[in-house]
Formats: sequence, structure tokens, C-alpha cells
Amino acid sequence: MKQAFRKIQSLADELHADLLVLGGVVITPNGAEQIDIASSGGVIVALGDLKGRWQADQVINAQGLHVLPGVIDSQVHFREPGLSHKEDIESGSRGAVLGGVTGFFEMPNTDPLTLWDADLQAKLDAADAKAWCDYAFYIGGSAVNAEQLDRLENLPGCAGVKVFMGSSFGDLLADDDAVLRNILSHGHRRMAVHAEDEALLKARKQIVEESGDVCQHHEWRNVESAFKATRRIVALAAESGRRLHVLHVSTADEMRFLARHKRRVTVEVTPHHLSMVAPDCYEMLGSLAQMNPPVRELEHQEALWEGIQNGTVDVIGSDHAPHTLEEKLRPYPQSPSGMTGVQTLLPLMLNHLHEGRLTLQRLVDLTSAGPARIFGIEGKGRIALGYDADLTLVDLNAQRIIDNEWIASRSGWTPYHGKKITGWPIHTVVRGQIVVRDEVLVGELQGKAMEFIEVID
Ligand code: DOR
Repeated sequence: MKQAFRKIQSLADELHADLLVLGGVVITPNGAEQIDIASSGGVIVALGDLKGRWQADQVINAQGLHVLPGVIDSQVHFREPGLSHKEDIESGSRGAVLGGVTGFFEMPNTDPLTLWDADLQAKLDAADAKAWCDYAFYIGGSAVNAEQLDRLENLPGCAGVKVFMGSSFGDLLADDDAVLRNILSHGHRRMAVHAEDEALLKARKQIVEESGDVCQHHEWRNVESAFKATRRIVALAAESGRRLHVLHVSTADEMRFLARHKRRVTVEVTPHHLSMVAPDCYEMLGSLAQMNPPVRELEHQEALWEGIQNGTVDVIGSDHAPHTLEEKLRPYPQSPSGMTGVQTLLPLMLNHLHEGRLTLQRLVDLTSAGPARIFGIEGKGRIALGYDADLTLVDLNAQRIIDNEWIASRSGWTPYHGKKITGWPIHTVVRGQIVVRDEVLVGELQGKAMEFIEVID
């Protein structure tokens, strides 16, 4: 009798979940399916027609919504420690979840730079206390830590090594081939790179120092200064057989070149480079549109979209790089490069979807499956049994106007202020916990460090 009761009890337990998501169109590896999702203990435990057979502590009615795997933004600058007047991990990750993002990789150009174990641990400790979603942090690749990168890149919570060939400073600037070779030769994980050629940037800077005209930003940091750096780093990585991830590709030349090097090299583009065009963006927004590498002319934006459509592009990353308005309004070129983007990444891409520039399946490939695939993120990137219940629920027909007031960033502005959007994130779920419900923050600060599949070299 007791055994029968235990059996019935265990069956009852099986049909009770922490969270049920009912009635949505769910984007799974099979495609778009009208199915329900149950999650318990932070992972997906059932998929299918669950209504009436399953009970749950929390239920989301997803009727009329599409349920995407959680969006992972693999390039953000959250400015903590040392620059938290611009942003910090709490405000940056709050913007992330309000924008439907469930995980982020944060960059090493903070103060102090993220070069050593203690720098990484300090960020992990801060995120453990105040991140709204899951996270990992890049270690900066530098001449000063190159010999230890094979150890450093495998520290818990490390997203891998990030190298700045240009557009950085001090120990984080690796603009010399010998230094780059040394960095590349220590480690096995895919290495992220900011590819601008520092020598060319230095040689060309007088163009803008004389004019002070931000409309010349993309002339100063011209196509060749990006393309030359990309050719260099791809050749250097090929010498050592190191896998590479080229961040924020901005030119047609790089995109067509990288399409011929896809065995070891992955490609990121940002929503800014897909949505803005020079010189219009500088005429309209001035230095608010200033970022490195720069937004360029239409032919380059069209080539980036070509890379989206033909599969060359692996991930969309926001390059969320906040500066205060006061800093941005300094006379160019003293104005810093960068703009907010983590909260607007998904709305902008949903609007591009609405306008027919990509499919929903491809968007999911770029914002969830892609990051998980190229960085080897454990248990994330798809809606499937046993995977983390990271879910981004969107209304493809919702119409909103992006407003500075909506932006959670401590810098408090977006270059898209006033832009009409069709397609919007409604609910955000991180490992089965509802963090945003009906566009309102409702959850707890409960982000966790992401884990990575052992690198198989
Ligand atoms: O525009 C940029 N701003 N590009 C970078 O690579 C760095 C970033 C920042 O941290 O401000």
C-alpha cells in the first residue's frame, strides 16, 4: 500500500513545476511550436501540451506571445569597478532583463582592468550580489599577463580572453604583433578581439584634431584601419591555430574576408552598425553616434546584413558602452566613443524582423544558439529538456516608442530615443525565475555565473 502511495505521490510531484508557460509559440530546435513549457529547479522539465495536467507555483499566460530562448549579450561594458558613474552591474543588468536579455559577458576595460584572478573575482563577487541575470567576465589579454592566460581563461566565471588591438589604453592595448603572438599562444578558448589598427589610428587622428568634426569619425577610423587589423589577427591566429571571435565587424571588406575564414573565426555585429548609417547618424546625433569601430556608409551596413543572411555572422552583441551625456557632449574628439545598447538590442532586432530583414529562427540563432555554440556555454542557448529555463517572451506586434526614460542605464540615454518599434520584450525568465513580468521588474537579484563546456582543442 505504502509503495503504491509513494508511486502516486511521485507521479503527482512529477506533474508539479515551479513555473508553467502556457499557450505561447515556442522557438525550439524544431522550429516554431505551439507548446507549453514547465520548469523546476531552474531547468526545463517538460515541453508539450501541459495545460490541465501540470500545476505550478507560477504561471505565465503566453497566449499571443513568442517564447524565445533567453537572449545572451556577449559584449557589454558595465563599468564596475571604477567607472560606475556611467553604469554598474546592477543598473546594466537591470537594463538587460528589461530588454529581454537573460545573460551577459562583460568587458575588461574597467578600473582596475580585469587582468588577474583578483580582478575577475571582484567582478564575480559584485555580480553575485547585484546581477539581475546570468553573467561571465572576460579577462583582458595583455603583454603583462600573457604567460598566465592559459590558466586565467579557465577560471570559473571567465568568458574567455578579450584583446584590444586598438581603441584602448595602458596594459589593455595589445597593438604589437609580438605581443599578440604571445597572447594567442597561451590558451585554447576562443579569443575575442577588437580589431582596429592602432598605428593607423594614431597616424590619421590629425584629420579630426584639425576639423573637430564628428562627421569625420569614420574617415579617421577608416575601413583600412579595421580591415588591416582583422587581416593581421586572423593571420596571427592561424599561426597558432587559435580560435578567434572578431567583435563588432563594421566593414564590407572584413565581412567578405571573414566569410572565407569561418573554420576558426566567428563574427559579431552590433545592432548599431545594422541600424545606423553615416553620415546621417552623425548629422542627426553628433557624438551620441560616435563609437569604435565607427558606424559607416550604407554599403557597409548592407554588407553586414548580407553576412546576417548568408550565415557569416554568428552572434549579435550590443557593445553596450555607456558614457554620461555630459561626457558625450564634450567637444569631439575629446568625447568618448560608445553608447548604451543592452536594453535596446532585442527591440531593435525585433523591429528589423518586423521589417523583414531576418527571420525569427535566424534571430534566435544570433542571440541564443550562436553565443552558446561559439563560447561553449553549458546548458543555455535553446529551449529543450534539461536546459536552463532562460526564456524571453516577446509580442511581435507590440508597438512602442523607445524613450530615454525607459533606459535603466546610469547614463540614462539611448541613441534611439523617439524611435518607433514593432516587436517588444514582455516577460523575462532567468533559470525559471520570472524577473520581468509585463515589462515590469518583479524578480530578485539572482543572477549566477555561467559555466562553460571544457574546451576541446
Ligand atoms: O565605442 C567603444 N566604446 N568601443 C570600444 O571598444 C570601447 C567602448 C567603451 O568601453 O567605451
